[in-house]
Amino acid sequence: NPEKTLDTFELTKAAAGFYHQELFKHPEARQYLQNRGITQETIEKYQIGFAPNNWDFIFKSLCADSRQNPDKVSKLLDIGLIKENESGRYYDMFRNRVIIPIRDKKGNVIAFGGRVLDNSKPKYINSKESEIYKKGYELFNLDYVRKLPKEELNCIIITEGYMDVIALDQYGVHNAVASLGTATTPMQLSLLFKQTDKIVFCYDGDDAGRHAAWRAFGLTLSAVRDDKVLSFCFLPKEHDPDSLVRAQGAAGFRKYLENSLFFKDYLMSELSHRYDLGSDEGQIKAVDEFCSLVKRITDAPIMLQSLIVAMAKLVGWEERRIEICLQNKQ
Ligand code: CTP
Ligand code: MN
Ligand code: MN
Ligand code: MN
Ligand code: MN
Repeated sequence: NPEKTLDTFELTKAAAGFYHQELFKHPEARQYLQNRGITQETIEKYQIGFAPNNWDFIFKSLCADSRQNPDKVSKLLDIGLIKENESGRYYDMFRNRVIIPIRDKKGNVIAFGGRVLDNSKPKYINSKESEIYKKGYELFNLDYVRKLPKEELNCIIITEGYMDVIALDQYGVHNAVASLGTATTPMQLSLLFKQTDKIVFCYDGDDAGRHAAWRAFGLTLSAVRDDKVLSFCFLPKEHDPDSLVRAQGAAGFRKYLENSLFFKDYLMSELSHRYDLGSDEGQIKAVDEFCSLVKRITDAPIMLQSLIVAMAKLVGWEERRIEICLQNKQ
């Protein structure tokens, strides 16, 4: 029902507007953003806002007439902006948090992210999935990225968080998106491959980010194509894209980007770190894992062949032996 969806987007747009206006009444929230180096221009571009520490700020702002409009209330419940308590009263989901509106590729506001101003937990809360928000199908900032001129789309960078995307954009790296609180899905990759031939994963430099990159690697296998490039950018332990671009600027960030590992090299490097390739046992385990992974590549025969050659070289086996192992897995 397109009419119904349109209404919901009007509601989310209005909510984003109320949060955004509220930011200017809260110096503590503006100070927080300023401390993170976020400029007024960026606040405007991303319509960053603030949810005050009230139980019913957004409810009252949008539903002053709630008695007459139960439909509106049920929509707000559906998209998770409000909740209902045991005594049937409605309360806001986002309180005392900086608000980042999340838009779909057409620019409709489909969800919100909210960050605390201090170190309290949980650091972020995000809208639940709803009729208008399916996490695995959306990417933060895709609406801007798809409108970039071709020369800025030589690659698209995937980061962990919207704050990374916002900081990169402010410092001049406009071609970044973020997957939203879940691992990147093959669906998201195919959306991005409509805009670019090269995707670079750039997660946080910490252990969590490195594990996320390896998980992403596993999930991308079915999306590997011979005419597309996937690579992995690794940052120093203490940095994420946000902190790195603030410390070293766009040029500093691009240096790391240039040193990204291609899909194949990342796989070889991981396998050689995981297994003792000097021993028969280590070689067998590495080849076993290699085959379990690459058997999921179904649409990239040239890449697959090149991976087999690289793997044979890595363990010092004949290619034929790797191919037999792979056939036995399939
Ligand atoms: N995230 C989340 N809930 C959390 C922690 C993280 O949804 N409790 C998501 C957010 O989208 C966040 C991303 O995972 O952006 C990456 O987490 P983290 O590196 O901790 O977030 P940062 O964006 O680096 O947070 P900040 O710089 O604001 O501290
Ligand atoms: Mn404004
Ligand atoms: Mn992290
Ligand atoms: Mn981070
Ligand atoms: Mn961060």
